[in-house]
Formats: sequence, C-alpha cells, structure tokens
Amino acid sequence: MKKIAIFASGNGSNFHSIMEAEAKKELKIKTSLLVCDHHEAYVLQRAQGLGIPIFCFNPREYEDKKAYEEVILEHLLAEGVEYLILAGYMRLIGQTILREYEGRIINIHPSLLPAFPGKDAIGQALDAKAKETGVTVHYVDEGMDTGPVIAQESVRIYENDTEESLKKRIQIVEHRLYPSILKELFQQEHVNIG
Ligand code: GAR
Repeated sequence: MKKIAIFASGNGSNFHSIMEAEAKKELKIKTSLLVCDHHEAYVLQRAQGLGIPIFCFNPREYEDKKAYEEVILEHLLAEGVEYLILAGYMRLIGQTILREYEGRIINIHPSLLPAFPGKDAIGQALDAKAKETGVTVHYVDEGMDTGPVIAQESVRIYENDTEESLKKRIQIVEHRLYPSILKELFQQEHVNIG
C-alpha cells in the first residue's frame, strides 16, 4: 500500500473520485494527507467528512514559494507520503518539493497536452475553436504541464458547447481516467520514470 498526498485547490471532484476508488479497495494506495492552498475550497469539506488529515495554507502568509514548500515537505515527510497526486492544484510545484519527489508526482490536466497548458484550459480550447480537447495524466516536472504523458483521452467539442457543458463532459472522463490510471500504476512495485 503506497501512501499518497492529494494536492487540490478547489472543488475536489477528482479528489472525490480517487477517494471513492480507494474506499472500494480498487487502488493500492492510502491517502494520508490533503494539501490545499485555499481556506474556502470545497475539497476541505470533502476531506474533513472522510477524516483525511489536511494541511491548508495561504501562500500570501509566506515569504516565497520555497518557504511554504518547506512547510508542506515537513508535513509530507511526517506522514510518510511516498507519491504526490495533483488533482486541480493550481500552482507550479517548485524545486523544494520536486527535489524530494521527482518522478513520483502525477497531475491531471483538462486538455490534450501540449495543447492548452496552464490555467483555464477549457476556455482556451473554446477560444481556439478547437474541434477536440481532452484529458491528460502526466508526470510533473519543473515546467507548466510539460512532464512525460502517462495517458490521454480525447473529448469532442461541439459547436454549441459552453464552458459549462464542455467541462461537464471533460470531468466525466477525468473521474474515470484518473482512478483507473492510478490503479494501473500502483499495481507495479515502483512508480518511477527515473
Ligand atoms: C480539473 O478539471 C483538473 O483537470 C484541472 O482542475 C480541475 C479541478 O477540478 N486542473 C488543471 O487545470 C491543472 N492545470 P476538481 O477540483 O473538481 O477536481
């Protein structure tokens, strides 16, 4: 059983889908910590309801990224966390955490990377009048959504799509894809691209 921490900034629907799979014993993981950077995020209520330990912080209360990542790292190491699963965490992982967890950080992003990286990937795809977008699960490196791709699934964009309708279809894919990829990855003894 691998100990993981989930990093999230907002609603936490992906957190929920991972926790559901974990509860059904479909994943060989134990979520030992939720790391969150917004005190009002709904994901906090989800974690509280499940009794998951939380470290929530306000980045503005720290001098810089290094300062708050050092505190996050202390929590991760104290809980014996082995892998980091980013699920709607809207910050770049900095060197402090990367150095310790390189090759053991996984992210989900709502586009077919390298298309539409960064914030508002769904709005970017609509603005570009793209015919398809999708979901990418990938390893995290120091770039913005640039690490090696683990899995991708496409989602068609219709002419009458709004941000809301497209997001809904993308998230249906996310909630199925992320737990199933984590299931596959954690069946192996070592989840590490080196
Ligand atoms: C998800 O769609 C995830 O792919 C995206 O944030 C959303 C979080 O939703 N992540 C990114 O855009 C990362 N660059 P959730 O809080 O309901 O899981």
